[in-house]
Amino acid sequence: MKLHTLMAGLVAAFVSFGALADPIVIKFSHVVAVDTPKGNAAEYFKKRAEALTRGKVKVEVYANSTLYKDKEEMEALQIGAVQMLAPSLAKFGPLGIKEFEVFDLPYIFDDYADLHKVTQGPTGRMLLDKLEAKGIRGLSYWDNGFKSFSANKPLRTPEDFRGLKMRIQSSKVLDAQMRALGALPQVMAFSEVYQALQTGVVDGTENPISNLYTQKMHEVQKHLSLTNHGYLGYAVITNKKFWDGLPADIRGQLEVAMKESTNYANFIAKQENDEALEKVKKAGKTTVYTPNAAEKLAMKKALVKVHEKMDDRVGMPLVQSIYKETGFDPSKL
Ligand code: LMR
Repeated sequence: MKLHTLMAGLVAAFVSFGALADPIVIKFSHVVAVDTPKGNAAEYFKKRAEALTRGKVKVEVYANSTLYKDKEEMEALQIGAVQMLAPSLAKFGPLGIKEFEVFDLPYIFDDYADLHKVTQGPTGRMLLDKLEAKGIRGLSYWDNGFKSFSANKPLRTPEDFRGLKMRIQSSKVLDAQMRALGALPQVMAFSEVYQALQTGVVDGTENPISNLYTQKMHEVQKHLSLTNHGYLGYAVITNKKFWDGLPADIRGQLEVAMKESTNYANFIAKQENDEALEKVKKAGKTTVYTPNAAEKLAMKKALVKVHEKMDDRVGMPLVQSIYKETGFDPSKL
């Protein structure tokens, strides 16, 4: 073999070895703090994905809207600027998949067990599959928890909400929910909520306590009412082209990492919210109120009406199929 042929061969081998040694990078962007159910689950996924692929995949997690805010992150995923996200289920409407807003219907799930019948069953899978048409692969559902209302005045009965400017996520169901209480809903990116509350641009908001606490919203909200009136969780999604283009063995390992991370996320979610509530109480800046049975019922009666009103948004057949899975019967209120 001539010397230059040998050299060319060596160079080619070196280049291809170099290419093999370069890890596949997954940029995973999200908007919440690290110390939340989603933030911790994203870190867990990084750890497991890197271990199971033996370093062939590197996961870069960008927390707290450091890379993209709510609306931008969806666009970034579609153009391939990031490979993974876990937006809340209330944020898929602007993408054109309105049915995800069924998860926002007030009181549709009593507890995590009810919710898992949907997210871990055929209805949950059917909804994730709808994302394919948008170039997105839905991988899994991760829990956060049940939302509570906060403001600078006590929120005990539906009447207390009248005229309040309430921040919501970009969901028409949440818009209808706030209007059913006589409040004025305002869509706003999560990263902007603290300042909007602080400056009075909005009067109040709703979130699971882990989000309220880690964004320091309790410092600018004098009252928190433990209403647990609706669910907030996530769909972990990836760019379909990226995912389908992965070597099959690596994709399989990432699927295992995702399964483990889902178990982890759903295991820690309730505990993280319980701990956050204790921290809010300890901080002493917010009066925490637990509605009594009559107040709970009044709130439920005012809000369950929203289910039927949202027929044109999420479709009553989907709502009915969830009732069937969970056993919820609105006529029994
Ligand atoms: C919000 O925008 O209120 C939350 O959904 C943020 C999140 O991702 O938990």
